[in-house]
Amino acid sequence: MTADNLGPMRRTHHCRELSRPDVGREVVLMGWIQRRRDHGGVIFVDLRDREGITQVVFNPEINAVVHDKAQVLRNEFVIGVRGTVDPRPEGMVNPNLATGEIEVLVTELRIFNPAQTPPFMIEDGVDASETIRLKYRHLDLRRPELQQNILLRHRAAQAVRTYLNDGGFIDVETPVLTKSTPEGARDYLVPSRMSPGSFYALPQSPQIFKQLLMVSGFDRYYQIVKCFRDEDLRADRQPEFTQIDIEMSFVGEEDVMDMAEGLMAAVFQTVADIELARPFPRLTYDEAVARYGLDKPDTRFDLELKEVSDIVGGSGFKVFASAVAKGGIVKALNAKGCADFSRKEIDDLTDFVAVYRAKGMAWIKVKPDGSWQSPIAKFFTDEEHRALAERLDMAPGDIVFFLADAPRIVNDGLGYLRNHLGQKLGLIDDKKFNFVWVTEFPMMEYDENEKRYQALHHPFTAPLEDQLEILGSDPLAAKSRAYDLVLNGSEVGGGSIRIHNTDVQKQVFQALGLAPEEVEQKFGFLLSALESGAPPHGGIAFGFDRLVTILCGCSSIRDVIAFPKTQRAACLLTEAPSEAGPNQLDELGIRIRKAPAN
Ligand code: AMO
Ligand code: AMP
Repeated sequence: MTADNLGPMRRTHHCRELSRPDVGREVVLMGWIQRRRDHGGVIFVDLRDREGITQVVFNPEINAVVHDKAQVLRNEFVIGVRGTVDPRPEGMVNPNLATGEIEVLVTELRIFNPAQTPPFMIEDGVDASETIRLKYRHLDLRRPELQQNILLRHRAAQAVRTYLNDGGFIDVETPVLTKSTPEGARDYLVPSRMSPGSFYALPQSPQIFKQLLMVSGFDRYYQIVKCFRDEDLRADRQPEFTQIDIEMSFVGEEDVMDMAEGLMAAVFQTVADIELARPFPRLTYDEAVARYGLDKPDTRFDLELKEVSDIVGGSGFKVFASAVAKGGIVKALNAKGCADFSRKEIDDLTDFVAVYRAKGMAWIKVKPDGSWQSPIAKFFTDEEHRALAERLDMAPGDIVFFLADAPRIVNDGLGYLRNHLGQKLGLIDDKKFNFVWVTEFPMMEYDENEKRYQALHHPFTAPLEDQLEILGSDPLAAKSRAYDLVLNGSEVGGGSIRIHNTDVQKQVFQALGLAPEEVEQKFGFLLSALESGAPPHGGIAFGFDRLVTILCGCSSIRDVIAFPKTQRAACLLTEAPSEAGPNQLDELGIRIRKAPAN
């Protein structure tokens, strides 16, 4: 089939625009065929474009030639039609469609391009696998749901720019071919042709550059910027993702947080017509972990954790007593009214916490008469029994889960179990948008795998006043001026007040175990910048993809990224990553040691 050219035909409307008042107008629409139906010689076509769908009609009694031409039309053909807007006959009105009261009676048809039958139907609720849909992402993106997500993303970005431009922030681009920025993930490296054996790192964030911009005097910077992190991927992580990156000079925590809350309020207002209550609540890191187990608590529901180490540390139940003796803790979570959980359900929950390295999970059910049903009930004295019942508010019909281990394992296990139970028990109101700031993060944590200290945020984060001394003696106890913004249990932003003093920066590098030569080699330029007149400064970066995911009500950030990567960091559409040719490798001075394993 030869395809038509556009010719003199020009679109007058989008496929969502026409309604009753347009009846009688001659219009031109262009788009894709969503569906075609033949009814007694009359052909009905749902024509789709970015904005919506309009029914167009090929009636042999109105124009036999055009009707004949329309016989070949199939799904996803790209066409243009000229015609007259007509009210739909009585009984044919479609209240689910913006244009459901009208149709267009076609007098001219141009077929711009035929299309092969798509590998899946282009409609919401499609049951094709994600693999197929990612391979044909350009087709999947035609679906109304994904179109809406990408449009919402665009509107959110516009709202961000408007708010920040109005607030006097300047958009400055920072390099993508750069040096390693320590945000705790693995770097993506790019080999240099000019200097064989040398590599650029793609930025994990523009952190160092935005601080340098403050030193240069560009107070109030922002950028909506791609960041790259080679880490294990999950539903809320992509190897390349987008940050709303912000830095300000002559500010403290309150200034940054206030600006950030204003930004969130503007975005939610513009995009979703939601009025956010401000100021956002705050929790210190210690309090968040104590009550929710996690530093990104979902505060849409209660179900808080309670520590019981003091009650059971001396008990006859060895698992608890020995955990406490080894410096661990015992915490519990009361699932109210869930004593009817079956053996299988409890086993499944135990498997669930095992993912977080919990070696087992004890439980106590409270029977209707108030007595306990539990494999561990026999180990507790009356006094311990009473104290537990009181601390954990145990009433008939409840089941309480216990974990005993190192604090990290207990908090992770019960924290994620809490989220899981929140879902399972329907405790979460998904219309809520609960923001919470988490503040006073520890400066560092101990990395068991690498056997060394690591900055919890990044090494440029300032310690809280009076915490610098502690850093040398008890590194894990020192608290920082870092803050995270958490929304519905997802970390959507993080930032800090930075170190602007060279000596303090050197002390922090030292506490992290970096030798002076290493510091010089990695961060010499930063130290020298700090010595050249660095203003006090601080900032924040939001995970833009995560924010949009929550705004769209999606479960995966892949649904709000036009061309996302799989869990294995591959683009199924372009088949990246792919092997490089021998000439390219030669030029780069690279030899592949062995064929890559598949
Ligand atoms: P941080 O590392 O906390 O801070 O990153 C900021 C925010 O970016 C989002 N994010 C991600 N989103 C999708 N996929 C990923 N792989 C991914 N990794 C992070 C999160 C996170 O809160 N330079 C500092 C910011 C600062 O101090 O100003 C930084 O990058 O929502
Ligand atoms: P055991 O003595 O190993 O048979 O365990 C007795 C009960 O304690 C079982 O219900 C286990 O699931 C539970 N349990 C084992 N290890 C832990 C732990 N680290 N924390 C909480 N409960 C545990």
